[in-house]
Amino acid sequence: MAKTPIESLTILTDIVLPGESNPLGNLFGGELLARMDRACSIAARRHSHAIVVTASVNHVAFNNAIPVGSVVTIEAKVSRAFKSSMEIYVDVWIEDRKSQKRSKVNEGIYTFVAVDQSGKPITIPQLTPETALEKERYEGALRRKQLSLILSGKMKPADADELRKLFIG
Ligand SMILES: CC(C)(COP(=O)(O)OP(=O)(O)OC[C@H]1O[C@@H](n2cnc3c(N)ncnc32)[C@H](O)[C@@H]1OP(=O)(O)O)[C@@H](O)C(=O)NCCC(=O)NCCS
Repeated sequence: MAKTPIESLTILTDIVLPGESNPLGNLFGGELLARMDRACSIAARRHSHAIVVTASVNHVAFNNAIPVGSVVTIEAKVSRAFKSSMEIYVDVWIEDRKSQKRSKVNEGIYTFVAVDQSGKPITIPQLTPETALEKERYEGALRRKQLSLILSGKMKPADADELRKLFIG
């Protein structure tokens, strides 16, 4: 039976400590990637109820630095399910100490694959998007999957029919 994105929603809130920072006093990029990967992994597991592995980090935009002491919230949700793979969107927020107002600082897109005990890909439930944003992310996911497969040498550009539509309409 198809599942909805909210069923996989995973929220991780944590603080940035000095040992996790770069020389400018901001969160080290690799540390943020690891936190995002962890949240995405839980979201993928919640969707598939299976063992999941990271297949690809499709995109990460470090748009804003995150200073030491920040409270960081990472929200991950499955944006589309294919046969065994899932695209996970992850949004990163920080909150202002005084106003508690949240601002979005970074986002990323990961691909996870559900596997059996021997690491072989298995079939997963499909996903039905509900909100406008979930529908937008769902629509673009096949293009992003094809791009990721091309970049990893697993697909020929000539076979990327959905991606080609972006350029030739
Ligand atoms: C990810 C992995 C299971 C894929 O196995 P595989 O034998 O290549 O299997 P397939 O070619 O059938 O790919 C399985 C699915 O992953 C997708 N996939 C594989 N590589 C991908 C990539 N780079 N980007 C997007 N999707 C990818 C395939 O399109 C396929 O999707 P679908 O079944 O939904 O159509 C395998 O490469 C693996 O175990 N990698 C190591 C994972 C790991 O250890 N991660 C942590 C890194 S430390």
